[in-house]
Amino acid sequence: MQLCETKSAIRDLHATWRQVGESIGLVPTMGYLHDGHLTLVRQARAENDRVIVTIFVNPTQFGPNEDLATYPRDMDRDLALLRAEGVDAVFAPSVVEMYDGAPETIVETTKLSRILMGRLRPGHYRGVATVVTKLFNITQPDRAYFGEKDFQQLAVIRRMVRDLDMPLDVISVPTVREADGLAMSSRNVKLTPEDRAAAPVLNRALDTAANAPTVAKAHKIIRDTLASEPRADIKSIDIRDAETLARVSGPITRPVVALLAVRFGNVLLIDQRVLTGEKP
Ligand code: PAF
Repeated sequence: MQLCETKSAIRDLHATWRQVGESIGLVPTMGYLHDGHLTLVRQARAENDRVIVTIFVNPTQFGPNEDLATYPRDMDRDLALLRAEGVDAVFAPSVVEMYDGAPETIVETTKLSRILMGRLRPGHYRGVATVVTKLFNITQPDRAYFGEKDFQQLAVIRRMVRDLDMPLDVISVPTVREADGLAMSSRNVKLTPEDRAAAPVLNRALDTAANAPTVAKAHKIIRDTLASEPRADIKSIDIRDAETLARVSGPITRPVVALLAVRFGNVLLIDQRVLTGEKP
């Protein structure tokens, strides 16, 4: 496995793969890898000749009062995990290498990035869309893999790829959970033991709402379940069309997605579930 810290190093490497017609799968990450990331890596490994993983804690997607400085990092452990998965290359640039000076150009999905979590974290999805565009341009993958946990991020990236005719497939991979149902996230290590014990309430709330017949009922079930956990500070509960993220109401006759953002202490956790309204 090659570790590339510069754009030119990773470009030289993928040029040699392209010359012999090899396909490239990309898994963009911010490091501190868990089984959710490794599931993306395994799928990329199975579907491509070469796999590139990027590790870059992107400052432009963090707000001024967010956790950029304390975002967990462990490069040695990440590299060992990726080596064991048979990854071909890791692109891990510095901030200076990635953003040369103060760039003028941004990429933004103008509607999708401003709703839902975009309201709670202004500028977040603009930072994501811009860095993912840069990572796509630098690594030129055939396929790029993203988890469904950040459902809005996935929608933003799919829309951006479609609108800007980016020549690659976006592959989504279901959320990987701990044994008690908590969605895997690099931020979980920042939870206190008490908050960690309380946090599976997100998954319980989503489970309980899975077969709700209407949007209003699903919303009430989720709110009541979350409210039963005193440590959960509910930031948002939204139920939206699973494809467009448009507002929905009434009976659930086509897939909708429940999107939760809940704070435990200083840690904001998100989770999601597609609800079909079908009886079990
Ligand atoms: O989901 C993440 O880890 C990040 O938002 C991403 C896609 C790597 C962009 O920085």
